[in-house]
Amino acid sequence: MHILVTGGAGFIGSHTCEALIKRGDKVTVIDNFDPFYDRAIKENNIFKLKESNAFTLIEGNVEFADTLNKIRGQKIDAILHLAAKAGVRPSIQDPLGYEINNVQATIKLLEFAVDQKINQFVFASSSSVYGENPNYPWKEAEPELKPISPYAATKLAGEGMGHVFSHLYGIHFVALRFFTVYGPRQRPDLAINKFVRLISKGEEIPFYGDGSTSRDYTYIDDIVSGILKAISYDKKKFNVFNLGNDATISLKQMVEIISETLGIPAKINYLPLQPGDVPITSACIKHSKKSLGFSPETKFSEGIRKYINWLNV
Ligand SMILES: NC(=O)c1ccc[n+]([C@@H]2O[C@H](COP(=O)([O-])OP(=O)(O)OC[C@H]3O[C@@H](n4cnc5c(N)ncnc54)[C@H](O)[C@@H]3O)[C@@H](O)[C@H]2O)c1
Repeated sequence: MHILVTGGAGFIGSHTCEALIKRGDKVTVIDNFDPFYDRAIKENNIFKLKESNAFTLIEGNVEFADTLNKIRGQKIDAILHLAAKAGVRPSIQDPLGYEINNVQATIKLLEFAVDQKINQFVFASSSSVYGENPNYPWKEAEPELKPISPYAATKLAGEGMGHVFSHLYGIHFVALRFFTVYGPRQRPDLAINKFVRLISKGEEIPFYGDGSTSRDYTYIDDIVSGILKAISYDKKKFNVFNLGNDATISLKQMVEIISETLGIPAKINYLPLQPGDVPITSACIKHSKKSLGFSPETKFSEGIRKYINWLNV
């Protein structure tokens, strides 16, 4: 298959491209090396991929016509749309920038899919679309989706646009709601990456709230395996799947596990809760297990051990 992967130089994208090439696919990546974090990290993510004949990189913005024109006319079997401005907190300062990168870009890519007769479209959504919903664990069929950050609202809008295009043009649209993904190459703004680096250097970690906020952390290999299944999923024209780990870990437990694995006590700087952050994320994965065959295998302590080994700190 030839897969168009947007955001392929990022954390989740670079791992997925490696898995696609390993199974024999051809991959074209579009990435604009968004300055949200250091370009050098992204260059490093795709350093090995660039050696493969099956890998092509187009540097540019998904929402710009001249970027998409570079692949117009090529046979593409599926689009994996991961490109986005990620991150909840920065989206509060730049809602319009998030709307352009996340919503307008998704619409442009959906129009491209229709024009190029590309029938399979996998979209990176997020657990944040559930907002502060108290009906744990969260199910895909939950009708009350009330995002509490601009980032989350753009992800819900992307799902909505996917539904429109699948209804109007028959595109197979699969939205994957990722629950906090971690592992090698994790984005530098995410807590696990920050905490491991700071604790290993004996520095203070910023600790928001009383430690009871909880996340359903999902290891990168499990996410990649879910994405590969979604690329071949064709049972329904539109579907939404939670990709989570079915186990919620509190901030306090997360710090304890990192600290135990490193063998270094954590120095904690207690700070107030951040606006836009939800108190708990918790995935029900019955639907993704049954209909997608998703089956996360990595326990949190095991994933942290692998991550710390990779970081070599
Ligand atoms: N990492 C997580 O825990 C998590 C959780 C929920 C959802 N997601 C979603 O998964 C996707 C991948 O996340 P990630 O953690 O790998 O983030 P990332 O920032 O590492 O990767 C995103 C990539 O998209 C590129 N990009 C951004 N805007 C672009 C544009 N307009 N045109 C072209 N390229 C653009 C960036 O340069 C970056 O390389 C994102 O859509 C994110 O919102 C991630």
